[in-house]
Amino acid sequence: MSAQAGIFAVGASEHGYVELDLLPGEEPAKLVAALAALQGPGSPMAGVGTVVGFRPELWSALAPGQSPPDARSFESVAGPEFVMPATQHDAWLWVAGVSRSAVFDAVSAAIQHTSTTGRLASETNGWVYQTNRDLTGFVDGTENPSPLEASDVAVTGSGSPAAGSSVVLYQRWLHLGSFSTLSTSAQEKVIGRTKPDSTELGEAEMPADSHVARNVIEVDGKELAIYRRNTSYGTPSEHGTLFVGFCASVAPLQTMLESMAGLRDGIRDALTRYTAALSGAYYVIPSIPSLSRFVSF
Ligand code: HEM
Repeated sequence: MSAQAGIFAVGASEHGYVELDLLPGEEPAKLVAALAALQGPGSPMAGVGTVVGFRPELWSALAPGQSPPDARSFESVAGPEFVMPATQHDAWLWVAGVSRSAVFDAVSAAIQHTSTTGRLASETNGWVYQTNRDLTGFVDGTENPSPLEASDVAVTGSGSPAAGSSVVLYQRWLHLGSFSTLSTSAQEKVIGRTKPDSTELGEAEMPADSHVARNVIEVDGKELAIYRRNTSYGTPSEHGTLFVGFCASVAPLQTMLESMAGLRDGIRDALTRYTAALSGAYYVIPSIPSLSRFVSF
């Protein structure tokens, strides 16, 4: 497997996410080398998993052809009534570990390690709420591809220089308090699944604007698939979902966002009435062979 292993490494409950911008006048290759070295020998990141990604245009200038072909920076997705904003940066780092201390130390070391080439643009802690739920209380990930299927969905297949590369959509979604004032049955209609056990609503009860209905999309007779590794962030009074969705191309992610915004057929995802997108960026996740060319061992 030539993809970055952390994409698929489940089980860690603590997470840290960092976005960086290249310092003015610095070489993009130096920022890539600094982040690539975090997965190399002698890395300061002990006991955690890491995944690194880059602004698609920055990466493709350094490593032509070594990205999903349609990779590009995120642009805001504007529905008739609301906007998912673009907050693209140059690099993204995801650290996953079993203890908050390990993730804190590793993220601190990474920021220090990249500080001569990159400026910190955002840092957010995530964690896994109640084993597998998001902070609406619903199970998140039920329809995710299984471990046997995830690699085909998330990573470009063999046979091209892009093999092993992926793209991630990273968005911070604030949950609005109004969702918790709905009855459980009304909440289930927003999501399209039951709350206690995540059973999909039957065809007769499934509203066309439910989150599930908006994201079950067939293109050329095939259902679009992405691989989600979302976590929760925040405090009891201000919190939400860190959407972390991997795919072998941008198109399925973009189509889902446009469907949620109502741009495909005028129907807006009901979940967007109870959550607000605060950030949005696409990053190319290079394969390990592509990344290792920037590090000398
Ligand atoms: C506030 C942000 C979000 C929350 C709280 C959320 C939550 C959920 C929940 C509870 C489910 C049902 C269980 C499951 O299959 O995982 C689900 C399904 C899904 N979501 Fe989201 N989601 C969010 C944003 C997004 C975004 C931005 C996308 C796409 C870019 C997306 C794509 C999907 C897909 C593809 C499914 C599976 C649909 C199916 O095949 O049944 N979600 N989400």
